[in-house]
Amino acid sequence: MSLQDILDHRHAVRHYDPAQPIDAGVVKKCIELASLAPTSSNMQLWEAFHVIDKTVLGKLAHACLDQRSARTAQQIVVFVTRQSLYKQHAKAILDAAMDDINRNSPEEKKEKHMKLQTAYYAKLIPFIYSRCFGLWGLVRKVLAQCIGLSRPIMRQVSEGDVRVCVHKSCALVAQTFMLAMSEAGYDTCPLEGFDSRLVKKALNLPYDTEINMVITCGIRMPDGVRGRYRLPFSEMYRRV
Ligand SMILES: Cc1cc2nc3c(=O)[nH]c(=O)nc-3n(C[C@H](O)[C@H](O)[C@H](O)COP(=O)(O)O)c2cc1C
Repeated sequence: MSLQDILDHRHAVRHYDPAQPIDAGVVKKCIELASLAPTSSNMQLWEAFHVIDKTVLGKLAHACLDQRSARTAQQIVVFVTRQSLYKQHAKAILDAAMDDINRNSPEEKKEKHMKLQTAYYAKLIPFIYSRCFGLWGLVRKVLAQCIGLSRPIMRQVSEGDVRVCVHKSCALVAQTFMLAMSEAGYDTCPLEGFDSRLVKKALNLPYDTEINMVITCGIRMPDGVRGRYRLPFSEMYRRV
């Protein structure tokens, strides 16, 4: 399938065929492919809950406001953000970077490369991702404004900004998953219409997770797809 075919095939499907089961192994493979999506600073602060259990599917459908897409879904994948895992992820990335530098960097540049990676993942990232009821974000914001008086600096550093950044990355993973499913001939629908408390309860999620997207999966019924409407491209496209 070309990218055009994959994009043409993907639709938000609101009604799945109950007579056509989908292979959990294929769905799992699509989630694995989605892990190749880019994430900010490669932090990968997301997890996917792949639901195939009928009882949990029923609870999730109810949590998704009983939307038909969820009620008829064969399987559901819930993408969540795990911002609180930033220390563990930063350490794993730094360890991998050190290993890579040791094996691939020229001898005379090793020390410099290691210092740069350490400054980024052991100092800057913990500073950017740490939270304290908005206070750390405020400190970062004030600091960024002051430094920004004399040079360009990233200004989106409040706790709200960082949360958005984590969700953005997770949404790229979710989109990559939907494209992989489309390529496999399966259908999906991203849902934002859900009761997050009920979704968390159905999946027994840790308190610090945030639900990014619930994605229903199955094979479409003919009435499961609406006509596709996009605003004129000229309204979105700005050539500079
Ligand atoms: C973040 C997000 C949340 C969405 N939430 C819902 C939802 O709760 N229920 C629903 O029926 N469709 C939902 N959709 C699907 C959109 O309505 C759909 O993608 C849009 O109408 C375009 O249709 P298409 O995906 O078939 O091209 C959502 C899409 C996105 C990206």
